[in-house]
Amino acid sequence: MTADEQKRVAALAALDFVEDGMRLGLGTGSTAAHFVIGLAERVSGGLSVVGVPTSEATRDLAEQTGVPLTTLDETPELDLCVDGADEIDPDFNLIKGGGGALLREKIVAHAAARLIVIADGSKTSERLGSFDLPIEVLPFGAKATVRAIEKAAGAVGVNGAIAQRLKGGAPYVTDNGNWIFDAAFRDIADPGSLAAALAAVPGVVEHGLFVEMANCVILGTDAGVDIRQKDVER
Ligand code: 5RP
Repeated sequence: MTADEQKRVAALAALDFVEDGMRLGLGTGSTAAHFVIGLAERVSGGLSVVGVPTSEATRDLAEQTGVPLTTLDETPELDLCVDGADEIDPDFNLIKGGGGALLREKIVAHAAARLIVIADGSKTSERLGSFDLPIEVLPFGAKATVRAIEKAAGAVGVNGAIAQRLKGGAPYVTDNGNWIFDAAFRDIADPGSLAAALAAVPGVVEHGLFVEMANCVILGTDAGVDIRQKDVER
């Protein structure tokens, strides 16, 4: 199976967790797009759900395919969020934000009773840090914020180069009007302490560490779909 086929089978397996009447968080990225397209097919077959998109790209896709949408203002509590990830550790801690949607993804996932992560088999690792950690930063004072990030991460034993994400040579701008910095923090021994340190830096709007948020990981692999579940206090 190609990586994209693995993403698709994981996304389709997540549809089995969707029940009639559910309020859903709709993730962002190529795996989440497979989920939205599969969901749209079920909706056209009579399934009744509403979804909160985690990005403008997912909103566009849901609108094009016919998935009914709502907002967190109209529907502040969700039953289930289904989203992709860039890296997944054995405790279901995640790095997200490769697609730049980490802020809305975290808000939507936090509003949901359950978070199911869907991914191809290449996304797992024993320790987070193979994938650069995306950090969404307010443009105001961004240089000072990056210095403060370096210090805060260093204080919990995590170091690495931090680079501004660019698009076409200009700063990449998120759906929320902010910038992203990608931190090459290799080998993150304690994601919880790094998450707390980053969250305490003024100017950091959000970071891509999702610690103890996921209840279920669905991986597409050459051997088939691998569904892993655990209880998470949310
Ligand atoms: C977007 C994300 C995505 O979930 C993550 O980048 C995975 O993307 P893909 O499913 O395309 O591999 O966090 O901000």
